[in-house]
Amino acid sequence: MTGRLAPLRAARAALSLGRRAAGGLAVAAFALTMVSGTAPALAGWLVKKVIDDLTRPGGAPDPGRAVWLGVASAAVAGGGLVVGYAGGLLATRMQNAVTLHVQERLYARINGFAGLHRFEDPAFADRLRLAEDAATDAPAMLAEFTLAVVRSVVGIASFVAVLHAVWPPMNALLAIVAVTAVAVQLTVARRESEMIQANTATQRRQLMYRRLLTDHAVAKEVRVFGLGDFFRVRMLGALRRANQAEAGVRTRAAVLQSGMAAAGAVVAAIGIGVVIARAIRGDVTAGDVTLFLTAVAAVQSATLTIVGQVQAAARSTRLFASYLDVMEAPEAMPDGVGVPGPLRTGIVLEDVWFRYDHSGPWILKGVDLTIPAGRSLGLVGRNGAGKSTIVKLLCRFYDPQRGRILWDGVDLRAYSVADLRRRIATAFQDFQVYDLTIAENIGVGALDRLGDRTAYARAAALAGLDGDVAALPRRYETLLSRAFFHDDAEEAGVSLSGGQNQRLALARTLMREDADLIILDEPSSGLDPQAEHHVYATLGEYRSGRTSVLISHRLGAMRGADLIVVLADGVVVERGTHEELVAGAGVYAGLYALQAASYREDSPAHAVPGGPR
Ligand SMILES: Nc1ncnc2c1ncn2[C@@H]1O[C@H](COP(=O)(O)OP(=O)(O)O)[C@@H](O)[C@H]1O
Ligand SMILES: [Mg+2]
Repeated sequence: MTGRLAPLRAARAALSLGRRAAGGLAVAAFALTMVSGTAPALAGWLVKKVIDDLTRPGGAPDPGRAVWLGVASAAVAGGGLVVGYAGGLLATRMQNAVTLHVQERLYARINGFAGLHRFEDPAFADRLRLAEDAATDAPAMLAEFTLAVVRSVVGIASFVAVLHAVWPPMNALLAIVAVTAVAVQLTVARRESEMIQANTATQRRQLMYRRLLTDHAVAKEVRVFGLGDFFRVRMLGALRRANQAEAGVRTRAAVLQSGMAAAGAVVAAIGIGVVIARAIRGDVTAGDVTLFLTAVAAVQSATLTIVGQVQAAARSTRLFASYLDVMEAPEAMPDGVGVPGPLRTGIVLEDVWFRYDHSGPWILKGVDLTIPAGRSLGLVGRNGAGKSTIVKLLCRFYDPQRGRILWDGVDLRAYSVADLRRRIATAFQDFQVYDLTIAENIGVGALDRLGDRTAYARAAALAGLDGDVAALPRRYETLLSRAFFHDDAEEAGVSLSGGQNQRLALARTLMREDADLIILDEPSSGLDPQAEHHVYATLGEYRSGRTSVLISHRLGAMRGADLIVVLADGVVVERGTHEELVAGAGVYAGLYALQAASYREDSPAHAVPGGPR
């Protein structure tokens, strides 16, 4: 968000958000704050009365009245404090309500991003990080600002009359200092928010290094390669850069603020000098002098509060713009409206061209491919050939730049993304293991059957994981986390092995029994031969009659596929059944010969360079 009016718009948006989230609390907090704001002035006025009574020339003071006034002033001051605390309590509750509301909306919005583009854009990551902080801060900050300003203005207003009565020019002098200070703080706030924005990327880097130094999954490599200091130095470097940027801005701010403080002191000194001189001349009473001193101190402290609040509010308003940016970010990948029906004829990729970035290399350069309904397709190709990219396009994380993907003859773009994904079950190559129980890790594959014991046990059995689970004391209730305890005991969870994790991810996908299309991206790369054999045997049964795509380097596993497609240089170079392709002289036959050779003992693939022959 740019332009001069942007901060004002952001402030309005933040306040209206605060009103929606915690309007009632805000009004109540306001009222209490107003009441407590007038207390000091009232107490000061009562004290003046006492002093005037005691020092009135000639007349003997009425002791009862003086005591009563003194007690009343103490009571008013104390009562004001109590009301102030109550207001503060309400303000905290309001702040919590606002934070909850904002986070709720922000994360709903993030969940609304259907594609992956935004999650791969560093500038967006910066904004997102700021948005999170600003979302938590700004509305509460602005509410606090409004409250503090109201409180201070009420306080100032009650003293302005006093100052005017005692020495009229004092108000003007104080106003000049206040206005200048506000202007200075607005500049400081602008520089601060610019610095915070510029520092975000550095901070994210620092957090990344911090994670590398503390994460359980990274700890092994960091130790075996001795990377600890390497990452620590980089982390500290990022922190130093951020500190330097901050120190520069803060130093300049401190110089400006000190100047303002000095100006305030000079004005106070002038006023006090004048009033004391007038008291000596007998123009004003001793009580007036006390009241004047109290008033000057109170007005200056209230001004200081306002000025400080202006700076904080202006800064968080500017940062709140990041939140608006995220909330109002246009949809990078427009959603369709159609609901795809059960797959009847098949999925067709028609001259599909795709690259991840506008300036990046083409990954797919005109892929033509048909996945017939009810058939199993095997996808083969070297690392980086674009197999996983095709998976991502089928799930519609991106749209092809050219060409189309058709589901029963209709472009995927015409369908609602959520409805399309409901029909697809995918096991990604880079699957995720969540810090949840095994039951939940599998169950999240079909949220509507999350707690369904039969469903997750069946999926685990299909994936060949049931035996492994049975060996664990807590079985399906085992927590897969070394970072958290089980809910019911201070007992850490466990980590599974790589191959077990892979079967876990497979089981999760198999929870989607009713999926029309099942996609398995290298589901067996980490499995031992026995597990692999089991998985492919059960998967073979499971896939028969279902539409499925299997990506694997184990060409033996491809035998069962109805059709195999070989991808190279961004296009389909071969297609056929396993037998047809092996019989040919193409890429597949070459790969197959190589794999077969690697199992023969005397093969050159097994020879150790320089070793015994
Ligand atoms: N998110 C991404 N952003 C940019 N490039 C990517 C991304 N994902 C993959 N690529 C690139 O696309 C190419 C194909 O990757 P991929 O489809 O994962 O290959 P594979 O056939 O091994 O599954 C690779 O060169 C990879 O570097
Ligand atoms: Mg891949």
